[in-house]
This record gives sequence, structure tokens and C-alpha cells, in this order.
Amino acid sequence: MAASFCDRDIISITDFSRAEILHLCEAGRRMEKLEKTGERNSLREALRHRTLSYMFYEPSTRTRTSFNTGMRELGGRYDGFSGTEGTSVMKSETVRDTVTMMCANHNDVIVMRHPLDGSLQWAADVANIPVINGGDGKNEHPTQALLDVLTIYALKDGRLDGIRVGFGGDLSHGRTVRSLSLALSHFDAVTIRWAAEDFLGMPEDLTRLLSDRGVRVEREGTVRDVMRQVDFYYMTRPQLERMPGVTQKDIMSMMKQYRIDVAKVEGFDVRVLHPLPVNSEIAEIDYRVYFTPAQAFFAQAEFGIFLRKALLHEMLAAGGYRRYDGRLPAELGIGNNRLPRRIRGGKQSGMFIDKIHDGTVIDHLVQGSLRTVSDALDLENRGYSCTTATIPEKRNPFIKTNLAEPGDRDLKTIALLSPEPTIDAIAGGRIASKFVYLLCANTNCITRVVNEDVPPRFYRDNGTVRCRYCRRPYTISSRKVSDEEKSFWTAGLPAGIQPVAYPDDTFTERVTAH
Ligand code: CP
Repeated sequence: MAASFCDRDIISITDFSRAEILHLCEAGRRMEKLEKTGERNSLREALRHRTLSYMFYEPSTRTRTSFNTGMRELGGRYDGFSGTEGTSVMKSETVRDTVTMMCANHNDVIVMRHPLDGSLQWAADVANIPVINGGDGKNEHPTQALLDVLTIYALKDGRLDGIRVGFGGDLSHGRTVRSLSLALSHFDAVTIRWAAEDFLGMPEDLTRLLSDRGVRVEREGTVRDVMRQVDFYYMTRPQLERMPGVTQKDIMSMMKQYRIDVAKVEGFDVRVLHPLPVNSEIAEIDYRVYFTPAQAFFAQAEFGIFLRKALLHEMLAAGGYRRYDGRLPAELGIGNNRLPRRIRGGKQSGMFIDKIHDGTVIDHLVQGSLRTVSDALDLENRGYSCTTATIPEKRNPFIKTNLAEPGDRDLKTIALLSPEPTIDAIAGGRIASKFVYLLCANTNCITRVVNEDVPPRFYRDNGTVRCRYCRRPYTISSRKVSDEEKSFWTAGLPAGIQPVAYPDDTFTERVTAH
């Protein structure tokens, strides 16, 4: 079956099949051919009247401009922001509201980059037009992976099976190594070798995932040990902006033996790739390497234009535009992270619910967290009661309040300070319902930013529970939750990331562009 990218969000490289990656490589090569034969503008009618919105919350040179170039050469237009200064993000506008405005502005596609993991899945949920991930936190950069694969495909005359790739620099804090290695895992007999400081090394979860997908991953002692055994050496920039507390001096010292200089490439038939930018102060690639036959990263950057032009063509050339009607699906306000618990009779009396007839008990808080949780909730200043208590023999801190239904902002605030609290709704002096509030444990996940109001959602991926947004695995740690309760909740989760359904067809009515 032919691959179709029409109306599709581009969020994670893991959403692509081998056939789809090869399809886009061929489409990218056709764009390359047009350029090489002087036909750069031959498709200038393809996206006439189409507009791309770029939303770059983080700096970018290549990703933003190459999408814009692709759009321009296909006859479309582009508009947006690069950096949040001058936008209402400075006035605390949420991602949800900003994305919605780009839909209201009659755009046909959004390309977004944002520092939080999972922010692009959230943008895709919110938008009624396709969204392309231009990089979310240290999570994914799928079009970078696609252009990297296209570069290898083109330089190796269409061969991806059996490819040998080296990784260096910072494999831990960037997103390109994750996305490219997962893209390569679709191909047979792929070997990845890497050399880096422990702190910057290949994440263990990624090594495991790649091994499970049939990729051979080997750590080597030196850069030359890698160079000697690979076709491509993929160097990456230390992502200082994602390493709080680490100085440039620390990184210079970690990188000392792992920088690439002429001596490390000499004598080897290897091409050096880099997603760029190179940090000119750290100089993870010495400038003299730029003038050797090994240098392939500027050609790689141009493959980014071919790939993104091809992708936009595949996504937008067919069909009409989507109408906007100002409504949001209810699903965007509701999570599936409340794990129901059984109500036991013994808790119906005693100090646990003493003195609250109707309200909430926030139970099973982490020891020592009572003060910080109650300060953060600030219940009394908001006009509610707040009694903090601990049952000494159970060492079980809890809060009683007459606030009847804590909202998600309250529940997230609690869960950030004391993971997996039990929330008991008290009605008529009895426990009416009981649930554990679950929140993704990835500290950079957008679901943890209280005022973004992203409802935590999880899904099942074979035997693993994952956060819908950053896709990290989630393990229930509360010792209070029984196996039966866990199984019941897990069985109710969707088996994968289903698109958010918009209320009805009229909301997204397709009409012919003219
Ligand atoms: N490789 C890459 O994403 O470059 P930019 O940060 O310049 O977009």
C-alpha cells in the first residue's frame, strides 16, 4: 500500500514504518534531482494558497528555514514566530491557546519546537490541522532523523541495511541520536558504535530498546576505534542548555578526548555527519575537519531541505483546507490518570474523616511533605479548611479539607510534591470514592507543568504503560495499590496513541482550496 502523509501529524520517528521511511527517502531524492537539474521551482503551483505556521519556542536556524524554503519552492507561504519575545507567551499564554490561535489564523500545517518533552503530541492533540515536531525537549526530532537517513541513503546509493554508524559528543541530552538510531532500527544488520564520557553516553533505556529492535550497540574506548569500524560518524553538540549546573569548562574537560580533529579521521573511509549547529567554543568538530573529504554535514543540511520539501508536498498537495470553528474537544480537558481504589469499611470512622462531613482527604502523602503540600495548596487563603494529620503507628500523613472536588491544578501540585497521593471524596461523613492520582515521572514532561493544563494521559504499549505525551514508561510505585486495582486501571487504557476526535465533521469540513 502506498504511504500517505495527508492529514497526518509527524510526532515521533517510531510512528514511521520502514516502507514509509523509504518512501520519503525516494521523495526526497526526487526533490534533490529537481534541484540538480535546474528545476527548483517546477512544483511552485503545488502548495499555492497553503500556509505553514512556524512556532519556535527555542532557537533554530536549519529546521525553521528549511521548512520555509520547502514551502516557498512549492508555492506556499509561511508565517509565525521564532523565539517567544514579542508573542503573548510572554504574558503566560499556554501552548494550547497559542496553537489554537495558529489554527484560527487559517494555517494548513504547524511546525513547532518547544523545550518540554511531549509538547508536540499535545500541540497535535489541540490542533485541527497537521502538526510537525521540530524538536520537543530532549525527546524527539523526527524530521532530523528522516533527513539523516536520507543523507545516508543518498550517499550509500540507496543502501540502509547493514549500515554502520558511529555516535559521539552528547548522546544523552540531545534528541537527534534517539530519533536517528530508532529510525535506523527499521533496517537489517545495523551496527551502532559510540565513544563518549559516561555523563554524555548512550542512555541505557535507548540501548535496551535498540537491542530489542535488533540493532547491535557497542561502546568503544576511543573515537578512532569507532572511526575505524563505521561508514558514518554522527557527531553531536553537548546540549549545555539541558544540563543545569554543568559549566562549559566541565564540558570542555569531558569532551577533550572525544572532539573530532583531522588526526581522528585521517586514514579512514568515513563521512562525518552532524545535525548542526557546531558549538564554536567547544568545537566538537575542529574547523580543519571542514576541509577534508570526511566532512559531509553541509550536504546533510541541504538534504534537510529536500526532505522537508518532500514531506510538505506529501502532506499538503492533495485535498483542501480545514475550517476552524472555535471549539475544542472535551477530551482535551480530561485525563485518564485517576486509578480507582476499593473503599474499605474500616476507614469510615476515626480521625481520618473526623470533622469533615463533605470534602476531601488527601492521603498517603510522602513523610515530611505535609508542610510543603499544604503551603502549596494554600487552602485557607482560598477559603477552605485545612487540617494536617498523621496516624503515628501508620506513619501516614494526610490532609483533610472541605474543598469538595480538587481540580487538576490542585492534584498536580500535590503529586509533584508527593507522588501518587490517594484522594478520598467525602460525602455525608463517608468515603464516597477513592482514587490515586498518577503523574508522569519525567521531570521535563509537559504534563507536569501545572499552568499548561495538559490532562495526564497514559496508554498501553505491549506490556508497558507509557505517558501519552513524552512516551516514557510509567511504573506505579504506590504500595497501597493492589495488583487487582493496577490491572483494572491498565486494562482500561487505550492500546496506543489514538488521535483526538473532534466533535463532528462540520468542525473540520474539507473544502477545495482556491
Ligand atoms: N539540526 C537542527 O535542528 O538545527 P537547528 O537547531 O538550527 O534547527
